[in-house]
Amino acid sequence: MFVVAAVFWSVTAVSAIENRECMDCHGDSSLTRKDSTGASDSLFVDIKGFQVSVHNLNGIQCVDCHADITALDMDQDVPHSLTLAPVNCAGCHEAETAGYQQGVHHKASSKGITIQCYACHGYHDVVSTENQPVRERENKSCLKCHEPSRFHNWLPQKETHFTYVQCTVCHAPDTPHQIHLRFYDLAKKQFLSAEAVFEALGTDAEGFLPMFAKGQDGAVDALSSEAFDNMVFALNRRGVHATFHAELLSEREPLIHQVTKVSAKRTCEDCHAPNSKFFDSVALMFVCQDGSARKVKIDRKVLESYNVNNFYVPGGARVRLIDKVGLLAVLGAGCGVMLHLLGRAVTAPIRRRRSHDGDGH
Ligand code: HEC
Ligand code: HEC
Ligand code: HEC
Ligand code: HEC
Ligand code: HEC
Ligand code: HEC
Ligand code: HEC
Repeated sequence: MFVVAAVFWSVTAVSAIENRECMDCHGDSSLTRKDSTGASDSLFVDIKGFQVSVHNLNGIQCVDCHADITALDMDQDVPHSLTLAPVNCAGCHEAETAGYQQGVHHKASSKGITIQCYACHGYHDVVSTENQPVRERENKSCLKCHEPSRFHNWLPQKETHFTYVQCTVCHAPDTPHQIHLRFYDLAKKQFLSAEAVFEALGTDAEGFLPMFAKGQDGAVDALSSEAFDNMVFALNRRGVHATFHAELLSEREPLIHQVTKVSAKRTCEDCHAPNSKFFDSVALMFVCQDGSARKVKIDRKVLESYNVNNFYVPGGARVRLIDKVGLLAVLGAGCGVMLHLLGRAVTAPIRRRRSHDGDGH
């Protein structure tokens, strides 16, 4: 037992080059070289960005990706080969790579366009998108290259759709989806952190579910729509006028890479119908100030229980849709106006930002 451990230790100790050995040089922000056009090309690696990356947090080291550096010869200016092999993301992400090969971006290679994994994800600073809202996810990937408002002319309320429906919900239609409800404070005009919600309710993460799922045993993991109503009223009584933004997101799965144009969803009734399968998985998102989050499953009936009721599909059928604004009872008659302002408040900064974005593809 002891011998095995000792051998293992000595092997890793000898072979692994530590990150700080690389950073001795690449931590220097003035380290550059000339690229083929003669322009200056930075070789600086921002260790702060790397430290919070999903790779560092999962123990991935510089040489796990730059795998052809197996030794450093410190007698040389450049202690490793001048031309290193391209990093092979696929080596650790097989399933995503297989999914990606079925999508339009990989297929563009037949036109001589190569889109690397890191064109969307970045490389030294890959962070988890798990708790991020739709817009943030899109800004970091699709919107770097596309300007979707230039097309989709068949789609009304484009900005509303792009804000609340992740591109891949329509464009990678085989990926399962989910709805995230986020607390939005109407008075403060901002999303509420989990801490703020719990504080207003006088509870904490542990106390929250038992507080509203009364009468059942301790093992509750989902909120009924009645419990949801109670929570809304409890928040109200404590002066927090929260509303709920509902976002339609893709599950983060390898299938999300099968981006398509021809099979993209455009049938309004797929989403705008009471029994849409799109709304099967609904969760309340409690996002903490440090970015971590907890999801609480919730009955899809909440989407109907507080209804905006101003939603019409062309053709006349009145349907109940996602509950963008849950709190009609509280808002009273001024609701229509509030709703409109709220929508604008939320999308205005986004619109502004997007008008500075690239030229599409
Ligand atoms: C003694 C300084 C030094 C150390 C230590 C060092 N590098 Fe470098 N590295 C350089 C220089 C200088 C270049 C630019 C080479 C050139 O002129 O093309 C470079 C280039 C690179 C490149 C770009 C290569 C390419 O093919 O474009 C990568 C990636 C890289 N280093 C990674 C690492 C990693 C990972 C480590 C640690 C295992 C490391 N370096 C350690 C000095 C260093
Ligand atoms: C998740 C994989 C991954 C990890 C971990 C990683 N790199 Fe990289 N690195 C890349 C990719 C991808 C590129 C750019 C294209 C290529 O080389 O294939 C790159 C490029 C570089 C470059 C060239 C300059 C640049 O920024 O484009 C240097 C220098 C470098 N890495 C050093 C490091 C150092 C030092 C570490 C550890 C602190 C590290 N890398 C960790 C994937 C990684
Ligand atoms: C066109 C943009 C794009 C490209 C290119 C891309 N991805 Fe992704 N990837 C995404 C999106 C979008 C998500 C979902 C996360 C999100 O919502 O932000 C994702 C999620 C992931 C995840 C986390 C979810 C999971 O399946 O565990 C991994 C890992 C991943 N991609 C790896 C890769 C690899 C490897 C490649 C290259 C073969 C690649 N990606 C190319 C857009 C892209
Ligand atoms: C040496 C193995 C290794 C390599 C090479 C590697 N990754 Fe990862 N990657 C991981 C591990 C481990 C995780 C964290 C666990 C997980 O999500 O699978 C991860 C997670 C991710 C995620 C998920 C982030 C999220 O939302 O949770 C993305 C995206 C990602 N990697 C992209 C890349 C890209 C792009 C490259 C190539 C530049 C790459 N990885 C290369 C091991 C690797
Ligand atoms: C790095 C830039 C880049 C990023 C990021 C990017 N794309 Fe693309 N996209 C392209 C290019 C280039 C093409 C290929 C155009 C062609 O084939 O002529 C393309 C093609 C497409 C097409 C097919 C268009 C057609 O006319 O066939 C769709 C749909 C698409 N992308 C959606 C997305 C979505 C959704 C995302 C985010 C998950 C995304 N793209 C991220 C560059 C990008
Ligand atoms: C409600 C569903 C839906 C949403 C949301 C959506 N798309 Fe589309 N998109 C489509 C459909 C359907 C098409 C094909 C018909 C067309 O050309 O408009 C398309 C076409 C495209 C094309 C090809 C345009 C061309 O040149 O012909 C691109 C690129 C694209 N979308 C990117 C995006 C991006 C990026 C997002 C997210 C910001 C997005 N889409 C959101 C349904 C959607
Ligand atoms: C992939 C699902 C999906 C598809 C397909 C889709 N929508 Fe939507 N639509 C949504 C979501 C989600 C919202 C945002 C609801 C909210 O504001 O909470 C929305 C918002 C709207 C709104 C604004 C409602 C309001 O009260 O602000 C209109 C109008 C609309 N959609 C019409 C359509 C029409 C017409 C089509 C077909 C051409 C269509 N949608 C296709 C999901 C979809």
